[in-house]
Amino acid sequence: MAEVNELVITRPDDWHLHLRDGDMLARVVPDTAKRFGRAIVMPNLVPPVTTAALARAYRQRILDAVPNGLAFEPLMTLYLTDNTTPAQIEAAKASGCVHGVKWYPAGATTNSDAGVTDIRRCDAALEAMQALEMPLLMHGEVTDHSVDVFDREAEFIQRHLIPLIARFPRLRVVFEHITTRQAAEFVAAAHEGVAATITPHHLLLNRNAIFAGGLRPHNYCLPVLKREEHRHALVAAATGGSPKFFLGTDSAPHERHAKESACGCAGIYSAPGAIELYAEIFDQAGALDRLEGFASFHGPDFYRLPRNTDTLTLKRETWQMPAQFGEGPDALVPMRAGDRMTWRLV
Ligand code: DOR
Ligand code: ZN
Repeated sequence: MAEVNELVITRPDDWHLHLRDGDMLARVVPDTAKRFGRAIVMPNLVPPVTTAALARAYRQRILDAVPNGLAFEPLMTLYLTDNTTPAQIEAAKASGCVHGVKWYPAGATTNSDAGVTDIRRCDAALEAMQALEMPLLMHGEVTDHSVDVFDREAEFIQRHLIPLIARFPRLRVVFEHITTRQAAEFVAAAHEGVAATITPHHLLLNRNAIFAGGLRPHNYCLPVLKREEHRHALVAAATGGSPKFFLGTDSAPHERHAKESACGCAGIYSAPGAIELYAEIFDQAGALDRLEGFASFHGPDFYRLPRNTDTLTLKRETWQMPAQFGEGPDALVPMRAGDRMTWRLV
C-alpha cells in the first residue's frame, strides 16, 4: 500500500477529558476545541459536579472559554456519590446536556474523595441510569492498598465489574482509560452495552517511561502505565476495528509545580497533540484506515449521538512539541514536551 501522507477524517471527539475550571480552563480548552468536535468532560472539580444544575453552569463556563470561530460542544457528566438519588439522575437526563455519570471509587485518583465508598450504596441511582439509558463511566481500579498498584485494574474487573454487570445487565458501561490486556479482553467479550476508552499515553508508553534514566513525573498517571505486553494488547484493541473501543485522551493538566513534587499529581496533558499522537499510533500499527472509526464513529455510536459532519485534516510532517506552555511553576508540560511529533494538524 502506498504511504499515506495526508489524512482527512470526520471530525473526532474526545470521550474522556479533564478541563478543570477557572484560569486553567481558559488555558486548556483551545487545545481540545481545535481538534475535537465534542468531549465528555470529567466532573472531578473541587467541589465535584454532582447535579444537573452544577453541570449546566460548568458547561457554560467551558463554552465561554472556546475561542471565537471554533465550534466545540462539551458533553457533561455527573460525579456519582454514595448519596446520588434517582431524582438527580432523572434531572440529569432531562437536562439534555448530561451524557454520563462517573464512578470514582473513593480515593482512587485526583479529587476522588467524594467518590463512591461501596457501589452497592448506589443501587437506586444505577437502577435509574439503567432505565434511562444513562451510561456509567468507570475509573476501574480497586482502592485496596494491599493490592499491588499495577494489579488494581485487573482486580477491579473481578471484584466489582463482573458483579455489577450481573446485577445491572442492561446498564450501559464505559470502562474508562483501560490499561491492561485483561480489561481489553473483558470488554471485547462483554455484551454490546460495555465499551472502553483508550488514551494516547497508554498506547504509546509502557511503565519504563516512568523511570527512564530517573523519575519522570510527567509520565505518571492513573491508572499507572503497565508492562509492554499490555500496551500491545491495547494497540490491538484500538486498531482492531471493534466498535467497543474509542478515543478518550484523559488529558489531565496539572501545573508543573504539582507534577514535579515530592508527591506529584497523576495526569498527562496530551490535548496539545492528541489526535496527532493517535495518528502516529495507528500509522505505526499499519492501521491508518481504522483511525476514523476509533476517533470519530465508535464513540458517538455508543453514546447514541450523531457523528460529526465536518472533517479534520492531518499531514505527515515532523514538528516539535513545545517544552512547556507558560513559564515558571505554573507552566503546563505536555506529552512529548520538546520532542518530535510525526503528524501535523492542517
Ligand atoms: O491520571 C489521571 N489524572 N487519572 C485520573 O484518573 C484523574 C486525572 C486527573 O484528574 O488529574
Ligand atoms: Zn480521567
